[in-house]
Amino acid sequence: MSEETEPLIQDRDHGHGGAEQEAAQCQTRAIRIRAIVWSFLALIFILSVIIVLVGPDNYGDIGPGTLPRDPDAAARKLLHMAPVIDGHIDLPMVVRYGWRNNVSAIPLDDKMPMHVDILRLRDGKVGGFFWSVYVPCADSSAEGKEFVNPTWSVRDTLEQIDVAKGLITKYPETFQFTVTSTDVKESIAQGKIASLLGVEGAHQLGNSISVLRQYYDLGVRYVTLTHTCHNAFADSCGYLETIPPLHYGLSPFGFKLIEEMNRIGMLVDLSHTSDMTAAHAIMHSKAPVIWSHSSARAVHDVARNVPDEVLGMIGTGKGQKDGIIMVNFSPSFVAPDGEADVKKVADHVEHIANVVGKKHVGIGSDFDGVLDTPKGLEDVSKYPNLIAELLRRGWDKYELAGFTGGNFLRVFAAAEDVARKLQAAGTSPVYDVYEKRDDFPEWEY
Ligand SMILES: *[C@@H]1O[C@H](CO)[C@@H](O)[C@H](O)[C@H]1NC(C)=O
Ligand SMILES: [Zn+2]
Repeated sequence: MSEETEPLIQDRDHGHGGAEQEAAQCQTRAIRIRAIVWSFLALIFILSVIIVLVGPDNYGDIGPGTLPRDPDAAARKLLHMAPVIDGHIDLPMVVRYGWRNNVSAIPLDDKMPMHVDILRLRDGKVGGFFWSVYVPCADSSAEGKEFVNPTWSVRDTLEQIDVAKGLITKYPETFQFTVTSTDVKESIAQGKIASLLGVEGAHQLGNSISVLRQYYDLGVRYVTLTHTCHNAFADSCGYLETIPPLHYGLSPFGFKLIEEMNRIGMLVDLSHTSDMTAAHAIMHSKAPVIWSHSSARAVHDVARNVPDEVLGMIGTGKGQKDGIIMVNFSPSFVAPDGEADVKKVADHVEHIANVVGKKHVGIGSDFDGVLDTPKGLEDVSKYPNLIAELLRRGWDKYELAGFTGGNFLRVFAAAEDVARKLQAAGTSPVYDVYEKRDDFPEWEY
């Protein structure tokens, strides 16, 4: 700096004679050029810092200020800028079981009996979540071994979609129905809770890929390939212990289902699936995959959690697929009886981050779908406790903004992009019908 300002002072003090003046002018021009070059370099530096800090994986206005030193205050400040997007909340099920789906009677703006209501959603800094439109597996004796007998799964799923939409509409100041990654970002920017729909098990498709397309048109954006039962498309992992396989992963019809999900932009959700189903789906899917609510088997050994071998297939390296594992809080998946707390949940988050990377982990609480919750994560108002715990463990704000929602939005946007490209390439819809069905009418001559 002094080197640059000194000649200017000299010029003012001594600049009289012709040659001297010309020399001084020359020097001034050189200084100007140098100043321009330096400002240009500084501008490039500032721009690259901004690009690194506010990359496409982050969302919300999280930079460049620092967070408070106190982890709880810091967690709240971070969540204010990068709120939670939860992959799996079972609120519609509570309405079905507790109120016979009477949307008028639901006091979401008051105290609800389970883990979710508007006050606690706001308190917990929730920016969006998937409303699970879950209905249970049909009774296997009624459905038949080959899943061909009629059930009420599709009717009941439509009723749950109706309930979710009814509640979203009932509280327009709070919720906004969303169907794209852009919708979600806009909704959060407007201070609304982005509301997405997820179907929890392909048994809810009634073995029909046509139904998949119609659910998409109703706004559903993920289908979990199985619940706790096998179905015509894929094998389930069972519940706490592995159940014997039926198809040994995806059935041939299941591979077709994945292709159609990719083409229309329905996220492939691998929670509840067997390890072989997950492996098949990861290899076959053109789009990134998600686990809407699953934890790590290496931390707590139950069938419902994801093993390291499957986690190893996720990433951006050669032969890997992008994806996100949204960690489940359900105590039976988190730790041995009575030991589940916010620290154990953070152990699952960190394990997945260590194996796959911090850009591949998120939140899928399962709130309202479980009777018990971990200590410190009792309901939707408690997410800040988990963020505070991760701050104590050294996660920085950009990593945390990915964890709370940015990672999910990246995966969602990438799946949307795959669908756009497949459609632009003229990929034909899948019209395959489950081969075991014999209910299609035939002309008689
Ligand atoms: C639904 O709830 C409302 C409000 O509590 C009540 O007035 C109405 O009778 C209920 N409808 C049915 C069908 O139960
Ligand atoms: Zn579930």
